[in-house]
Amino acid sequence: MDAESNDSPYAGTLRAALTDLLVSQDAIHDERIAAAFRVVPRHLFVPLVPLELAYTDDVVLMKRNESGIAISSVSQPTVVALMLEQADIQAGHRVLEIGSGGYNAALLRELVGPTGEVTTIDIDPDVTTRARQGLDAAGYPDVRVLRTDGEFGVPESAPYDRVLVTVTAWDIPTAWLNQLAPGGRIVVPLRFRSQTRSIAFDLLDAGSPEVRLESRSMTVCGFVDMQGAGANEERYVSLHRGLVSLSFDEDQQSEPIPPERVLDQPKATVWSGVLMNREEPLSDLDLWLATTLPGYCVLSAEPRALKKGIVAPVPRWGASAMASADSLGYLTARPAPDPDFVELGANAHGPAAQDFARLLADQVSSWNANLRGGPGPSVQIHPGDYPTEQLPPGLHLRKRHNQLTLSWPAG
Ligand SMILES: C[S@@+](CC[C@H](N)C(=O)[O-])C[C@H]1O[C@@H](n2cnc3c(N)ncnc32)[C@H](O)[C@@H]1O
Repeated sequence: MDAESNDSPYAGTLRAALTDLLVSQDAIHDERIAAAFRVVPRHLFVPLVPLELAYTDDVVLMKRNESGIAISSVSQPTVVALMLEQADIQAGHRVLEIGSGGYNAALLRELVGPTGEVTTIDIDPDVTTRARQGLDAAGYPDVRVLRTDGEFGVPESAPYDRVLVTVTAWDIPTAWLNQLAPGGRIVVPLRFRSQTRSIAFDLLDAGSPEVRLESRSMTVCGFVDMQGAGANEERYVSLHRGLVSLSFDEDQQSEPIPPERVLDQPKATVWSGVLMNREEPLSDLDLWLATTLPGYCVLSAEPRALKKGIVAPVPRWGASAMASADSLGYLTARPAPDPDFVELGANAHGPAAQDFARLLADQVSSWNANLRGGPGPSVQIHPGDYPTEQLPPGLHLRKRHNQLTLSWPAG
């Protein structure tokens, strides 16, 4: 069957409605991206789900590993749209997509047009087989699909104007940098300090000792974890018999951890006076705290921990926290007089409880006074051998291949 006979007017109507929704929710601004969403038949890439579900703004989970953890999915249309906006794909571009599924590759193919080129790769042969079938059924036989570990890119069809990564990375492998054309852009969901942001990086001063990537935009997102040579491990520490857990980043393996029952020790609380609307995301504040607090980690708690009074309420995805060998502090909130708002503060336990709670609350106040509502942080990536003393000011994280600097414009 050809691509046209695999589609239907009803699928087209659902597709148009989904596109209109993404435009109305500000996920799509570029009319060319909207046009691509209106024509690519997403249902052919998720053949086992009902047609209506294929055109819902939701991720479609395709595969779990033996432990039940999601390892492959067809991404949520909103996230796909936001990343395409970040990538700023132009007609004629050569694009490498790392982490396949077929749908996004078809959208990319629409955007680069007949003079461009799209290569999409995945480490999992089931995914590449499915992507190939979907792309053929949808009428995109000229998208190259390869099974390979994205850590190494695809040197044979480099250089690329754009590298679009759709799996959570912990670092930018040297291969991606080397395969990027001068002036090229990488869009990648990058994890640091347990938080993932899709970041658009431009390649600057390629071929010179000053070569670096500089962020242009950032958006909060969630993706499955990278497998293969670039796989990275978060470190989980369980407290109170698993009712509370702390997660640290890959480079924090030797960070000291507090005693198992630290939260039974007397509590110190400091309120910051900073009010947040209940709907306002905490992500920028979390990133600021990750930049400034020693022993930063993310605290998550089972509902039973709350019921038993071990912790104060924390967001479902975890609260910013700081840990040492004997103490633990974490961000908390209490209702404000206006029911739409909460006041932020900090709880802490252990011998340093008072200092931890004060430091956390002070950093909340400092973010509120200087950075809240501002342009947010920026990130630079320098090669691993770049002289440390010449890095721009900010939080410096040493990754496997590179050095990352997270900095905040002055308020
Ligand atoms: C969220 S899915 C990609 C979604 C896809 N872009 C789409 O069109 O919806 C992430 C994919 O990354 C793949 N992946 C994980 N580690 C990888 C690696 N090292 N190299 C290439 N692909 C990888 C997984 O197998 C999974 O299929």
